Amino acid sequence: MGSTRSRYALILAAGKGTRFKSEKPKVLHEICGKPMICYLLDRLPELQVEKAIIVVGQGAEEVQNALQGYPVEFVRQEQQLGTGHAVMSAVPALNGLDGNLIVLYGDTPLIQTSALEELFVKQETTGADEVLLTVQLDNPTGYGRILRDSAGQIFDIIEEKETTEEQRRILEVNAGFVCFGIKALVGTISQLSNENVAGEYYLTDMVKVLRRNGRRVETVQVEAADEEIFGINDRRQLAAAAVKLRSRINTRWMEEGVTLIDPNSTVIDSTVEIGPDTMIHPGAIIEGKTKIGKDCRIGAYVHLANAQLADGATVDSFSVIRNSRVQSGAVVGPFAHLRGETEVGASVRIGSFVELKKTVVGSQSIAAHLSYLGDATIGEGVNVGAGAITCNFDGAKKHDTIIEDGAFIGSDSQLVAPVRVGKNAVVAAGSTVTEDVPEEALAIARSRQTNKAGWTKKG
Ligand code: UD1
Ligand code: CA
Repeated sequence: MGSTRSRYALILAAGKGTRFKSEKPKVLHEICGKPMICYLLDRLPELQVEKAIIVVGQGAEEVQNALQGYPVEFVRQEQQLGTGHAVMSAVPALNGLDGNLIVLYGDTPLIQTSALEELFVKQETTGADEVLLTVQLDNPTGYGRILRDSAGQIFDIIEEKETTEEQRRILEVNAGFVCFGIKALVGTISQLSNENVAGEYYLTDMVKVLRRNGRRVETVQVEAADEEIFGINDRRQLAAAAVKLRSRINTRWMEEGVTLIDPNSTVIDSTVEIGPDTMIHPGAIIEGKTKIGKDCRIGAYVHLANAQLADGATVDSFSVIRNSRVQSGAVVGPFAHLRGETEVGASVRIGSFVELKKTVVGSQSIAAHLSYLGDATIGEGVNVGAGAITCNFDGAKKHDTIIEDGAFIGSDSQLVAPVRVGKNAVVAAGSTVTEDVPEEALAIARSRQTNKAGWTKKG
């Protein structure tokens, strides 16, 4: 492969995103759990791009921080004077490079690799100086329109703001994905002018500029691209893009063998992994780095965020699991809440209205109803009765509770931490345990019942 076939990418992300009315730069707004610009960056390795450059301006530092770890270079566009001006800002970084440059707008995350590959290939095989992706839309509102001569050759792109009424009826639009020969681009981009309604340097005017310089401009039309090219300029479009992306994510998981009872109401981030034969009920929200094994059952309206479920785990309806792990065969919920790096062991049962915080529960143990267990280490085969809780906080500090294998914690007892309940020990119902309970012992820590005979007759 000669150097002229080298591929580079430039992503424009300096704009204000005015229509978002946000403190946060537009390209960092998330769709399905990932900042929108990251969808583009994640396509680049498949395209074998040698270098990616991002043009930043508004909120530059925030964007740079958010993209730490991506192999990209940043250039600054101090003032946002248009998409053409954004590319001009990158010229110093492009000087001396030979090959082709794909220019992407940071607000178009739905594009798939194949469309971008087609752009590069057309550029590489025809030797054109610019190749644009165009698409026919039923409703072209907001996009730049493609102007062609009688021979069908593109000669200009007209931004919507600049269109005549007749031009507004043109259905072929500039999708916003374009490839340039770097030398041709760098050699002519200074000829862009800002004499237009917006007073901006439009990148779209490069069609005119290159043709004036005797250079070749080509277009590719990509099938079914109308969804892929969707640009996000406001929060309505952000929501609409998320709907499209969610449908793509859900379709993929169904193809991988996951049952979604109602894909339309199931929200799965793009960062989630799910094993086959898992069944997910309506209304589930599955976020972040959640990893669900094979054969799991996720009930209705379950919320998982950075949760890890081993094969065959069940999370019943209306449960919330954050930053926690559930081993195989365990059943959690309905109405359970796990958080703070909780670990639920194999075949454990955590029932309704049980909250676990930073707690390890050994295999086969049960906390079936109405418990708070925080900062606790619970062994295997333990039974925590209804309403039993750890008192882990003394008002200033958190303290640990240890419950060893086989222990039985009677209903409605309070374990005042720090405290340890030994192996196979029994805590009587209603006890307030403030001292360690030795192995095999019975702890009763409540006042003895007195029955006063004839009480009701007295008064
Ligand atoms: C642009 C195209 C339009 C196309 C549409 C496709 C131009 C002039 N118009 O319009 O033909 O149909 O995309 O979605 O190119 N940006 C900068 N610096 C600037 C201005 C913008 O970095 O000075 C960045 C923005 O952050 C954004 C991208 O460029 O990510 C596109 O800018 P935007 O204002 O959204 O362009 P559109 O009006 O959508
Ligand atoms: Ca846009």
